[in-house]
Amino acid sequence: MTDQATTATKKLFIKTYGCQMNVYDSQRMAEAMGAEGYVLTENQADADMVLLNTCHIREKAAEKLYSDLGRLKPLKAERPDLKIGVAGCVAQAEGAEIQRRMPIVDLVVGPQAYHRLPAMARAGGGVDTEFPAEDKFEHLPKPAATRRAPAAFLTVQEGCDKFCAFCVVPYTRGAEVSRPVSRIMAEARDLVARGVREITLLGQNVNGWHGEGQGGEWGFGRLIRNLAEIDGLERIRYTTSHPNDMADDLIEAHRHEPKLMPYLHLPVQSGSDRILKAMNRKHTAEQYLRLIDRIREARPDIVLTSDFIVGFPGETDQDHRDTLDLVRKVGFGMAYSFKYSPRPGTPAYDRPEVDSAVADARLQELQALLTHQQKATQEGMVGREMGVLFEKPGRLPGQMIGKSDYLHAVFVDAPDAQVGDLVRVRIRASSSNSLAGELAA
Ligand code: SAH
Ligand code: SF4
Ligand code: F3S
Repeated sequence: MTDQATTATKKLFIKTYGCQMNVYDSQRMAEAMGAEGYVLTENQADADMVLLNTCHIREKAAEKLYSDLGRLKPLKAERPDLKIGVAGCVAQAEGAEIQRRMPIVDLVVGPQAYHRLPAMARAGGGVDTEFPAEDKFEHLPKPAATRRAPAAFLTVQEGCDKFCAFCVVPYTRGAEVSRPVSRIMAEARDLVARGVREITLLGQNVNGWHGEGQGGEWGFGRLIRNLAEIDGLERIRYTTSHPNDMADDLIEAHRHEPKLMPYLHLPVQSGSDRILKAMNRKHTAEQYLRLIDRIREARPDIVLTSDFIVGFPGETDQDHRDTLDLVRKVGFGMAYSFKYSPRPGTPAYDRPEVDSAVADARLQELQALLTHQQKATQEGMVGREMGVLFEKPGRLPGQMIGKSDYLHAVFVDAPDAQVGDLVRVRIRASSSNSLAGELAA
């Protein structure tokens, strides 16, 4: 072997499942491993290390890990020096059990311990699912001053204290923690200096963020107003929010802050008060509807999206009709709907389940209504003019793809444009999952 081969950089392949927080974490892990001489590769077969950043939210999501590990077996047999790591929420929930089930796994690292990943990799493996006292963000290497894509994520809050009866997040991500104002501001400024024009603030309960800022305790609305003062930062978004943390200062930020985009993902899960209570959501359908009224009063053009669970234990036909009713009253721009999946360790796990075929039928009915509303929302954009931030070139010559203020993907014919341009676009047409538009004169 030549010297060159032994000193060559190592290649890291990361596969990310689950929510945007995992996308952010994968990026941070890539940076941490970058400091160890690893570069990212798109080709798994070519990698020195494969890292699977997993999601535990529903059974199907968690099982994907094991099917992927099964597919990695031949590669590991061929190249025993290949390191296989499991990160994220399955790592947290199952820990060393993953290695017992799949001995090809060298290391398991939970979402709060991944700043220790480089040391684990150097040691050749291990299991770390602690919730360490130190702030992982402070122990990660500072990213190199490379250019970034125009839209970026920034985690400002992690964990959850709400304990909805169906949900694993309080167990996999731990207690609610808000990152301090100064660190968030510094990271945002750094992103903008590297070409970022849109930041999506992330947290499992992002609108529950609070911190000590100038003049005392800040709420999330105040944080947004402060971020909006950064020159060069043009757009701010946030996800995911809980209805009970939608404070007045955040609603007011939607009224007064033009950089805060008119889009809000506000999961409600069900439209039935009985089910909301059984889920431990701590609000009624009526309270959610009144909240939506107040948000729309502040920002009439806001697009609202949501999450729903159908077939939660105890759900009757009437409860399901109440959900459809709520959907009709709100008119969502888009929503995710899931069939309830019982998760070990959660309060609802042992409750008697709704008949699976009944739950499937309800899911179909709800999805049909939501698809109809999504189509109506998109068609309502046709003829309107709005901002679009170009994120990548399209397949056709001269075409750009970007996101509208309302987070729709928009295809635009713009031969002279660059990735990162924020332009005014008139929407011409709507198709199933995107819009088409032309540069406004
Ligand atoms: N923090 C967010 C949700 C995070 S999980 C909130 O409070 O709304 C994302 C979505 O997954 C949830 O909104 C819920 O709709 C769905 N989900 C969570 N646990 C689930 C389960 N056990 N079965 C089916 N869907 C689930
Ligand atoms: Fe899960 Fe509920 Fe917390 Fe959302 S608020 S992360 S659904 S426990
Ligand atoms: Fe999944 Fe963990 Fe996110 S369970 S949805 S990856 S917080």
